[in-house]
Amino acid sequence: MAQRFQDQFGNPHGMGGRLAGWLMALTNRDLNAWAIDQLAVRPGDHVLEIGFGPGLAVQALARRARNGSVEGVDVSPLMVEQAIRRNAAMVKAGRVSLRVGAVSALPYDVGRFDKVLAVNNVQFWPQLADDLREVARVMRPSGVLAIVLQPRHAPSAADVLAVRDDLIAQVRAVGYRRVRSAVTSSSPMPAFVVLGDRPA
Ligand SMILES: C[S@@+](CC[C@H](N)C(=O)[O-])C[C@H]1O[C@@H](n2cnc3c(N)ncnc32)[C@H](O)[C@@H]1O
Repeated sequence: MAQRFQDQFGNPHGMGGRLAGWLMALTNRDLNAWAIDQLAVRPGDHVLEIGFGPGLAVQALARRARNGSVEGVDVSPLMVEQAIRRNAAMVKAGRVSLRVGAVSALPYDVGRFDKVLAVNNVQFWPQLADDLREVARVMRPSGVLAIVLQPRHAPSAADVLAVRDDLIAQVRAVGYRRVRSAVTSSSPMPAFVVLGDRPA
C-alpha cells in the first residue's frame, strides 16, 4: 500500500495521483523556489522543465523569462492537467506550453532551450545516460541544465551526498561541462542541485 502510494510520485494517476499532486504542491514550494534561483534564468531565456508535476515552478520561471518562454513535459496526463490549471493565465497568454511527454524522447527540435530544469524526477528517468544525452540534444550550445533532488527517504545526510556524488559522476561522464553543485538544508533531508553546461 505504502509502496503503491510512493509509485504515485513517479506517474501520478487516479485518485491517489490527485492526492500526490496536492501533497507536492503543498510541500515542494520552497525547494522549487531554490531550484529556480540556482538556474539563474534570464529575461530572454527559453526554458524547459522536465517532470513539472503540479506545476509549482512554471509560473516563477515564466516571470523570470519575461521575454522568453517556458515549455514542459511530464509523463502524467493528470499532472499536465493540474499544471495547466495552476498556470492558466500564462498558458492563455502563450507564454507557457505544457504537454504529456517523457525525458527519453523530448518532443522538441535540436538546440531549442537556454535552460533546463528537473526537480525531484531524475530518480524516475529510465536510462540516465541516454536521457542526459537527449536533454543535451534540445539545449542551445550555451545551455545549462539544473537537476535538483531531495532524496527524502535517504537514511542520512551522508547518503544524500553520496547520491549527489554519483549523479555528478554520471553527468560528467556524458560530457556536460563545468559540472557544479550546491546543497540546501531542508527537512527531512538536505536537497542538492547538480548544474552542467551542455556537452561540446
Ligand atoms: C515527485 S514529482 C515532482 C514534481 C515537481 N517537479 C515538484 O517538484 O513538485 C515527479 C514528476 O516527474 C514526472 N516524471 C516521472 N518520470 C518522468 C519522465 N521519464 N519524464 C518526464 N516526467 C517524468 C512524474 O509524472 C511527476 O509529475
